[in-house]
Amino acid sequence: MIADIFEEPLSMELEKVCLRPITADDADDLYDIFSDRQVMKYYDRLPMKSREESDDLAKMFMNGMTDKTMIRWGIEERSSGKLIGTCGFFCISEDDKKVEVGYELRRDRWGMGIMSEALGAIMRFIFTKTDINRVEAFVEVPNVASMRLLDKLGFVNEGTLRQYERCRNELIDVTIWSCLRSDGVY
Ligand SMILES: CC(C)(COP(=O)(O)OP(=O)(O)OC[C@H]1O[C@@H](n2cnc3c(N)ncnc32)[C@H](O)[C@@H]1OP(=O)(O)O)[C@@H](O)C(=O)NCCC(=O)NCCS
Repeated sequence: MIADIFEEPLSMELEKVCLRPITADDADDLYDIFSDRQVMKYYDRLPMKSREESDDLAKMFMNGMTDKTMIRWGIEERSSGKLIGTCGFFCISEDDKKVEVGYELRRDRWGMGIMSEALGAIMRFIFTKTDINRVEAFVEVPNVASMRLLDKLGFVNEGTLRQYERCRNELIDVTIWSCLRSDGVY
């Protein structure tokens, strides 16, 4: 049962970063990340405009852990102790044995291998600590960095969902990616 993992210790010490549950104290750092237009460019939500929005987001992540509907880790930089991003999984389906992953990093930490390390650790967590069979991700077509990350971590591009969702007031194409237990990557 995937619900059992919420009882496990969730923090992970990695080489560059620590992954740990998000708390209300992270709201300032979350605001820095989620108010950046470049970070939010391919997100289905607008950049934050007020600090209250990041309080709400921290609460949403924390509630997701309490009601066992998602795990969102804070990505804490080991050298500075600063929260520089988040990543995790949601849309948990016990029946279909699948989850969806999501992630974002503050702009001045892009291209340093940080999300490869963080999401790679989460993939290992999913396939070793749970009975999940399929991990999926949805990425807007121009989001090359995200697609490159998924490809590197062993996800397979399953194709393009044409005019799949309304985003920034237009219907956009979205690529769907997956990694299966039977792919044997983790
Ligand atoms: C997507 C994102 C999380 C990648 O994080 P990151 O820590 O910069 O990624 P990494 O440094 O681990 O790089 C992973 C791979 O992607 C490549 N990559 C990273 N940014 C790239 C870019 N802008 N263009 C092309 N390739 C890129 C890296 O070179 C690396 O591949 P390599 O090891 O073969 O060289 C980051 O760009 C981000 O936060 N973007 C905004 C939020 C977002 O779009 N989230 C995903 C929504 S689906």
